[in-house]
Formats: sequence, C-alpha cells, structure tokens
Amino acid sequence: MSQPKPVRKAVLPVAGMGTRFLPATKAVPKEMLTVVDKPVVQYAVEEAMEAGIEQFIFVTGRGKHVIEDHFDHAYELEALLRARGRTAELNGLLEDLPVTGSVSFTRQQSPLGLGHAVWCARHFVGDEPFAVLLPDDLMVGTPGALKQMIEVYNRVGGGVVVAAEEKPLEEVKRYGVIAPGAEKGNAVEVKGVVEKPDPAMAPSRLTVIGRYILDPQVFIELDRKEKGAGGEIQLTDSMAKLIGQVPFHAVKTNCTRYDCGSKEGFLQANIAVGLSRPDIAPSLRAMLKTINL
Ligand code: UTP
Repeated sequence: MSQPKPVRKAVLPVAGMGTRFLPATKAVPKEMLTVVDKPVVQYAVEEAMEAGIEQFIFVTGRGKHVIEDHFDHAYELEALLRARGRTAELNGLLEDLPVTGSVSFTRQQSPLGLGHAVWCARHFVGDEPFAVLLPDDLMVGTPGALKQMIEVYNRVGGGVVVAAEEKPLEEVKRYGVIAPGAEKGNAVEVKGVVEKPDPAMAPSRLTVIGRYILDPQVFIELDRKEKGAGGEIQLTDSMAKLIGQVPFHAVKTNCTRYDCGSKEGFLQANIAVGLSRPDIAPSLRAMLKTINL
C-alpha cells in the first residue's frame, strides 16, 4: 500500500454562537474560555502541532477577533514581562506562538452549520487531505488524539478518518452515529454515518466526535450546500457521501474527551486537567475535599 499524502493543514471552525454557554459567550468566544490557564482553542492547536500539522486555518465570525490576538505577539505585555525579569512567563508566551505565517483566518459570514464553516476554508486547504479540530472537544491523552488518528490514516491508506466514542443509547441523538464494519485494531471501517438519529433508528452507539481527517473531495459535496438535521449544513452528510469513494475509518482513541461546549463538560475539564497539573493538583485536591457534596 503506498503512503497516503501527508496531513499538513488543520481547519479549526470557531464561528459558532455558543448559545449553550450564555451569558459567558455573549462577548467572549467560547473557544477562549479557559481550562485552568489556557483557552480551549490553544489545547487544540497544541494537539495539532504535536501531530505534525504545519498550517492552521481558523474559520471565525463576528466577535471572534480575540482568537487572532491570542495567536499573535502581545508587545506591551512581552515588554513588561521582560522589564520585570519575568522570564518564565515571557518564554511561555513566546513558545506558545505558532510559526510566523502558519496561521490564517477566514470568516464564516453566517453561522449556517459546521459543514458550511469547513467549506469556508476550501481555498486555504486546496487539493490535499486536511484535519478538522473542534476546539470545544478537549481531548486529553498521550499521544494526542490527532496523532493517533494520523497513525491510523497512514496504516489504512488515507481517506477519511474520524474520532469516535461509544455513548449510552439515549445520548446518540446529539451526535453523528456510525454504522460500523470490520474492526482493525483501534480502528473500525465506517459503512454509514447518520446525523442525530432517533435512538430507535441509530445504527450503533458509536458516535463521531470533534476530530476529523478529510479528503478534499468533501468540498465537492459541501459545495451543494444541502441542509440536514436542524436546518444546518452538516459536515456529516457530505462526509458520508465519501463512503465507498475513499477508505473511511473511525478511531477509538485512548484519550478522554471533555465537551467544553457544555457547562458540565467544561467544569469537569477544569477539575480533571487541574488535578493532572503538578503545580496546582495538591492545593486543588485539598480544596475539593472541603466542598460539601
Ligand atoms: P456547536 O454544535 O457546538 O455549535 O459547534 P455552537 O453554535 O458553537 O454552540 P451552541 O450549540 O450554540 O452552544 C461545533 C463547532 O462548530 C463550530 C463551532 O464554533 C464549534 O467549534 N461552528 C458551528 C461553526 O464554526 N459554524 C457554525 O455555523 C456552527
């Protein structure tokens, strides 16, 4: 089997309205809400960097400009930290910056759905495979989720690879659900995907979560701008049309997923990540014990 084209580009759709998180997201993009001391979007960028991604394409919208600022120099702050000898903080800021010219931004002028957001990045992606990371889904694990997916992508000969997670049947109606085929280690062949099915009609309990490796052919499907579940242009619908045209697999990563687009998932992420951080874990653990549950 020949080596598939490398995955060098990642699309990060960040144009959603974040209505589940109001009023926090009225003026602050939900992707900028912090888990411990980093915005959720930064975790996604770090995961992509670890997986070898070289170019980051953000699909933003109105009120999201602070995301651009976050991935740029903050000259006054850097000068102040330098003047005060706060070298550790300064170096931390500089190390986190993506390489100059590796980040681009395009706007989704109306939030018509995830499929539409990805379509907005088509000219930046061009004719090569690409990853999509939804920053709301914080994936914690080693190696990172996208790195595990790229390993599968190389092993199965490329095509489409999605991250998947088993859910209780009553929850599948919130997700794209996979009709599974043959198992291949931590991957499974995908025979079909249905967006937000009635649990009685769901082909399995295996749901697609916010990490994808896509073939550029998906843009041909997205170009049709067909609306799906909820009247939105769904990524799942266009992706599902590639089944049979390119290899299509789902990966059950060993990462833990936190749904930071929901209040409970976001709080859980803060506690779990906090408890994994040697600098704050002891005091956080002690503090949690004082809460009367
Ligand atoms: P969600 O389904 O979480 O929607 O989007 P949302 O609008 O952001 O949030 P709620 O449901 O109103 O609280 C999943 C991902 O797709 C992006 C979001 O930014 C998020 O990363 N998205 C969604 C877009 O970029 N554009 C859209 O039109 C819809």
